Amino acid sequence: MSSSLFPLDDATCRSLAEVHGTPCFAYSGAAATAQFASLHAVLPPRVRLAYAVKANPHPDLLARFASLGASFDCASIGELERVEALGLPPGRTFFAGPGKRKAELRRALAMGVRVQAEGFEDLARLDALADREVVVNLRVHPAFEVDEGNRIIGGSGPSAFGVDEEAVPALLDRAAGLRHVRIRGLHVFAASNQRDAAKLLAIHGAVLALAKRLSETEGLAFEQIDLGGGLGIPYAPDETPLDLKALGQGLSELLAKHPWFQGELILEPGRFLAGPCGTYLTRVVRIKVSRGTRFAILEGGINHLIRPLLTGQAFPVKAVGKGEGSLPYTLAGPLCTSLDRLGEVRLPELSAGDLLAFGTTGAYGLNEGMTHFLSHPVPPEIWVDGGP
Ligand SMILES: Cc1ncc(COP(=O)(O)O)c(C=O)c1O
Repeated sequence: MSSSLFPLDDATCRSLAEVHGTPCFAYSGAAATAQFASLHAVLPPRVRLAYAVKANPHPDLLARFASLGASFDCASIGELERVEALGLPPGRTFFAGPGKRKAELRRALAMGVRVQAEGFEDLARLDALADREVVVNLRVHPAFEVDEGNRIIGGSGPSAFGVDEEAVPALLDRAAGLRHVRIRGLHVFAASNQRDAAKLLAIHGAVLALAKRLSETEGLAFEQIDLGGGLGIPYAPDETPLDLKALGQGLSELLAKHPWFQGELILEPGRFLAGPCGTYLTRVVRIKVSRGTRFAILEGGINHLIRPLLTGQAFPVKAVGKGEGSLPYTLAGPLCTSLDRLGEVRLPELSAGDLLAFGTTGAYGLNEGMTHFLSHPVPPEIWVDGGP
């Protein structure tokens, strides 16, 4: 079976498991290319695609998207270095994130990447580091209502990201004395995993209206408006995919509705571009029935796929070579915590050694394990016994 939820057919899953052992993650180059191309094809020429590296920083995936013309949204030195290794021409990398340290900003300046300033500190630190004009975008946390069911980004409540919209005038007053930093772009990312094109477009429309207000009331001249990520993908057979044609058409209409803006729009999808290409393969270690619940205990669990625990959203799973089935299983990992669950599913009868394939695991899969997320360095562990 190969479908949009499962990019690899059973024979390929089986040979990958035999050659590489399990558990493992496999990313399909063909699926990644097809996903990128399907979105790129519907976008108006003034919309740029910047892949959000945090979704999956695998070097081959980055190289594939780079070869297809992607720009890149990074959120740490680790991510910037992975993109730097691609040897791209300047102007294709952005640097966002609410906690940028001075050393990171210094490095970003040296690399010539465009910073999404998330507050006065980013602006002031860049200004102090720079010896010539530095053009940045300002990330704004909008005041408009966003219904983000899963609260990955946080909807319209309090947020660690960006400058609250109502605080922008005061921030600009403080920034007026800075010598080198110039704000020439707006960045807003308000909601994640949206499969409804109309909802996404409503947010994008509100962002353009916000940009217009800011340009009129604050005199900001925007050459870029970054609409963030948030394009959703199905994780279950009954979830409909995002209507790409409607999205492309809606973006064209928005540009036509805002003739004052002659710059470029940027989309930064992570999940949409990387999710569908991924498969996580793991074998069943044993079956246990406990007080009426049938557990399939697997080689890997939340140590490899933490997302179901964080968001309550399971990944689709199939029993390789066994077809459909209707026996209820609780999928448990090998960790000694009852939090280690990958979902409640219906599968054919399983036994030890059977191979399971979790589809759509190309984004926020292995790298969402929190020490890997955003490619930040792993902190050292220090044994203290009498001195520092
Ligand atoms: C600044 C920024 N851009 C883009 C993304 C990618 O979002 P998604 O994977 O929902 O498209 C994120 C995700 O957290 C983000 O923080």
